[in-house]
Amino acid sequence: MDRRSFLTNMSAATVVSIAGAVTLSEKADALEEAMSIELDKRIALPSFCTIDPTPEAVAGDTRPYYQHEDPRIPEMPAAPTLADFYKLRFAPANHVLQSARLATVNGMNEKIILACLLHDICVSNFIRTDHGYWCAQMVKPYVDEEVSWAIEAHQALRFFPDTEVGYEYPDAYIRFFGADYKPEPYLVEAHAKAKKHRWYMTSRLITMNDLYSFEEGVVVEIDDFTDIIGRNFRQPKEGLGFDGSPVAHMWRSMIWPNNFL
Ligand SMILES: [Fe+2]
Ligand SMILES: [Fe+2]
Repeated sequence: MDRRSFLTNMSAATVVSIAGAVTLSEKADALEEAMSIELDKRIALPSFCTIDPTPEAVAGDTRPYYQHEDPRIPEMPAAPTLADFYKLRFAPANHVLQSARLATVNGMNEKIILACLLHDICVSNFIRTDHGYWCAQMVKPYVDEEVSWAIEAHQALRFFPDTEVGYEYPDAYIRFFGADYKPEPYLVEAHAKAKKHRWYMTSRLITMNDLYSFEEGVVVEIDDFTDIIGRNFRQPKEGLGFDGSPVAHMWRSMIWPNNFL
């Protein structure tokens, strides 16, 4: 760890624990402990950054970079469907599959079930930060406007309880971000705007079917939703990534996440 950047970015709790140590050696111990805690912190990186950039050589493959075909990930069909992405790129996709199942069990309509199925698809294999906005943009050309609007708004709504409908602030967020975490002003604003929108409940229902822990022993497959996808997702005949839409590059980036350029 870079000592200088650690010292500049120490949390208030770390400063207090080091300042509270009486002797020099106690201070050194406190510093050491704080550094090891910092090392354990999980850093969320886009998945592009987590694929090893210098893979082991594959026998007979003399390419210096794995442009397009990367032997470490499954090859996708020439015209990939949404289901192909679930099977070959998003898998196991437990969170979104289980959320869509819960929405089905709760008797939600097909738009809500589809929204739950799509609401976090970019998180595990594309990008985590501002994921509601990214996911909404990725699917916008292919779904009803209400669905992409609701996916975008869920980014903000997750952080705001709505006692009228029984939505509470997720316990998981207290564990993830600390009890004193406050959403940034742009999220406060997005929530206030969404609250007044005619599709507010569509997005709120995504958050209410958003599972933060998986149900043990429940196996959900993307094929369970073939009919709902067929009726509600406009699958381009050229395949996702190759239809010339304004978001095609996002799907291609998931097909070839490790292209050099
Ligand atoms: Fe989400
Ligand atoms: Fe989610």
